[in-house]
Amino acid sequence: MRIVIKIGGSVLDSLETAPWLRDVQSLVTEGHNLVLVHGAGSLITEALARHHIHTEFVNGQRVTTPDVIADVIREMRGIASMTVVSLCRQIGISGVGLSGADGGIFDAVMADESLGLVGRVATVRPQLVETLWSLNMLPVITPVAPDIQTGKLLNLNGDWAASGLAQKFAASALLFYTDTGGVRWDRNDPASLMREITVKQAQELMAQGRIAAGMIPKVQAAIEALAYGVEKVGIGRWFEPAMTTWVVRGE
Ligand SMILES: Nc1ncnc2c1ncn2[C@@H]1O[C@H](COP(=O)(O)OP(=O)(O)OP(=O)(O)O)[C@@H](O)[C@H]1O
Ligand SMILES: [Mg+2]
Repeated sequence: MRIVIKIGGSVLDSLETAPWLRDVQSLVTEGHNLVLVHGAGSLITEALARHHIHTEFVNGQRVTTPDVIADVIREMRGIASMTVVSLCRQIGISGVGLSGADGGIFDAVMADESLGLVGRVATVRPQLVETLWSLNMLPVITPVAPDIQTGKLLNLNGDWAASGLAQKFAASALLFYTDTGGVRWDRNDPASLMREITVKQAQELMAQGRIAAGMIPKVQAAIEALAYGVEKVGIGRWFEPAMTTWVVRGE
């Protein structure tokens, strides 16, 4: 099976309890073709604070100035990517860290001028990922990619980048690892995790504000992946049904 996994920055912050790593090991051992996309978690916020870079927010999203993208690239393509790759190495998996620019994996276009250097995926090229699979290597992708018009590097949302890859590969599964496990009815109550939600229910939960903040792009990217040929989409953990919400087509 081809499986795309987004490792949320929120789970990179607590590496000692890394269920994603155990799951990656099991899935690779079972012979599946995996590709990882990672987030950044608190790394970027901490770097910006260290460098005294003040940023504005528009509709809850950080305006990405050239100073911000420089820290995004340093922290994501540097620290976060190498951390994921070296953790994989420890469990005997040969990971290869790549940005969206490498091998032309992603071309991006600017998402919204008011957000600055933020992009969305315009094109996905699968060749480099497939070549790495043929070498039994695990691609680990940092969601930064060049603007097709200007060549400037743009920050992509990792959830959308993972969904774009999964769509291109018509993946058997797309899974998002995040700190809460899956989607909760009450975001503060772990016991309210829903094991399955339909696309329609997901849309209602967003409209009601029950799905909020960083869960919104994840659920939207999940819905789009299901609409464009990805078989199975979940938010949570592959081997822990009680910590996983599968998003399914239908009412
Ligand atoms: N209904 C909900 N159920 C669970 N979490 C929710 C819900 N609504 C909002 N959230 C929030 O979504 C967050 C997960 O998204 P977030 O963007 O913070 O993490 P991530 O995508 O894993 O990390 P990164 O963005 O760094 O890659 C949770 O920490 C939680 O606060
Ligand atoms: Mg997020």
